Amino acid sequence: SVPDLELNNGVTIPAVGFGVFQTPPDQTRQAVREALGAGYRHIDTAAAYGNEREVGQAIADSGVPRDEIFIETKVWINDFGYDATIHAFEKSAAKLGVEQIDLLILHQALPSEFNLTVASYEALQVLLGKGKVRAIGVSNFMPLHLDRLTSATQVAPAVNQIEVHPYFQQPQAQAANFRNSVLTQAWSPIGGITFYRDSGHRSTLADPTIAQIAQEHGKSPAQVMLRWHVQEGRQVIPKSTNPQRMAENIDIFDFELTAAQLAQIDALDTDQRGGPEPEEITVESFGREIPEA
Ligand code: A2P
Repeated sequence: SVPDLELNNGVTIPAVGFGVFQTPPDQTRQAVREALGAGYRHIDTAAAYGNEREVGQAIADSGVPRDEIFIETKVWINDFGYDATIHAFEKSAAKLGVEQIDLLILHQALPSEFNLTVASYEALQVLLGKGKVRAIGVSNFMPLHLDRLTSATQVAPAVNQIEVHPYFQQPQAQAANFRNSVLTQAWSPIGGITFYRDSGHRSTLADPTIAQIAQEHGKSPAQVMLRWHVQEGRQVIPKSTNPQRMAENIDIFDFELTAAQLAQIDALDTDQRGGPEPEEITVESFGREIPEA
């Protein structure tokens, strides 16, 4: 089974969760049901993914007790501002079919409207105080965003969910998280974001260094990458719609990479982001409406 990590407020989260970014709503219910069957106990979704309802249905279908599943979702930038964020929580909870959300995070910073970002986070703090959520955090925050937030608010974020994979490691962002006792959650942990893009075709899954290490352990390249994250203290949320790969991605607790192998993977960083540049996020360019109910 998957071990837990402790957040800075004492709440625990499984070291490996199941991600549903870009999982179409009509495939999400089955994928999450299979993931729960395979042993995942953390599901990471977002209002902006448009599949919270299907995540909730899968949880209900599964028969797994609610308190054994860690549910994480995100407030989209269109819902920034205090009142809108409280309402966004209510919409997400209703779609997920739950009273309480385990971890609610801001999906992005809005660098040009940081006051709105802070107002949203203040709403998260209130939800936390009322027990509506068990932990709060952020996503895609650069060190400067984290500094600005923590100097304006009271509760340190429990997590910062950022793009991290062997080809884009963000050491500065990871260090800022560490300094602030914020757990780094790695999105696109096996570098899927780099192989979705049609330009470049770089694939961490075909990287010769990773393939070599995988061979040395009798594991797959994906397992080696996930193990690398876990050994470096990051929580991971791989996604797959394939039951065999889902199972593979949590079967990473029976081997150990050496310090030299970790260093070899660290050296693969190309400092090239696969996702959007956090500094450039605006409601005008990125905001899209989230379907009601
Ligand atoms: P699939 O759904 O067909 O398994 P990331 O989470 O890093 O963005 O990567 C997700 C992508 O990686 C998906 O396209 C998924 O495809 C694929 N994937 C997930 N797990 C594995 C694995 N163990 N081996 C190879 N590909 C994988």
